[in-house]
Amino acid sequence: MKFNKIAIIGGGNLGTSIIKGLLKTGDFRNDDVIVSEIRDRRRKFLTDSGFQVTEDNRKAVSESELVIIAVKPQQVDPLLNEIKSAVVKNRHIITYTVSGLAISEVEKKLGAIPVFRLMPNTAIEIGESMTCISYKNSNDDITESVLALFEKLGKAIVINEELMGAATVLGACGIAYALRYMRAASQGGIEIGFSAELSQLITAQTLKGASELILESENHPEREIDKVTTPQGITISGLNEMEHQGFSSALIKGLVTSFNKLDKFKNNDT
Ligand SMILES: NC(=O)c1ccc[n+]([C@@H]2O[C@H](COP(=O)([O-])OP(=O)(O)OC[C@H]3O[C@@H](n4cnc5c(N)ncnc54)[C@H](OP(=O)(O)O)[C@@H]3O)[C@@H](O)[C@H]2O)c1
Repeated sequence: MKFNKIAIIGGGNLGTSIIKGLLKTGDFRNDDVIVSEIRDRRRKFLTDSGFQVTEDNRKAVSESELVIIAVKPQQVDPLLNEIKSAVVKNRHIITYTVSGLAISEVEKKLGAIPVFRLMPNTAIEIGESMTCISYKNSNDDITESVLALFEKLGKAIVINEELMGAATVLGACGIAYALRYMRAASQGGIEIGFSAELSQLITAQTLKGASELILESENHPEREIDKVTTPQGITISGLNEMEHQGFSSALIKGLVTSFNKLDKFKNNDT
């Protein structure tokens, strides 16, 4: 199944990243993706960026087969009520990135149509998202097509819906955790002699290399660490000092703190 037209409702941070990612695949032209956005200034920005833009959510849905809803959790209820009559069974596939929104809630509003709950991250913009997906009311053809689409935008896996909260923290918030590591390492690099620019470049490429090593080899990170830690060497001394200062523990505690906040912030955001 090929999606001829995709509607993105909510042209904010993530919605914009998704449009950029879709266009970057080369499978879609500007005319194939329509973004619907209520905020004037945001619409102007999206139009100036060359995207097809509307403020009419129902029009965007009617013109498309695949709908990607990317609004904040507290904005989704009125939106579903608004688009309900434009959603056609056997034509539309509804996908959404809204955190904390159960598939059953969407089904309650829109009926038994194919619904895909997505948890991507902003690296979708460059085709490097980690997208976790749960779904309901689909068939093999639709499921394969949705998965294939998100595989073009990075890696995509199907998970149980109960794990969506964990996916939000590890995959979506995870971008911020990795970037904070990057900032800290860059600052350290400046202290030991590099310019800010070079320090950032070296840190970013080193992180990219570390990720690729693990993704390609599927080795445990510690196995790769063993290859660069000589007895009494400089790497192990630094690593052990980081652990004395609580490096791994801080990361795990931060992750769990984010996870524990998910319920409290169900009506707010990531
Ligand atoms: N950002 C991430 O990294 C990320 C990752 C995974 C999942 N998510 C989830 O994805 C969703 C979108 O996140 P975001 O960061 O892109 O939020 P965002 O920047 O606030 O974008 C949402 C956009 O949708 C607009 N909007 C609100 N109601 C609308 C409606 N009825 N019709 C059309 N447009 C509407 C908003 O306008 P106003 O500003 O005027 O409200 C805003 O411009 C959230 O539920 C978030 O939890 C985000």
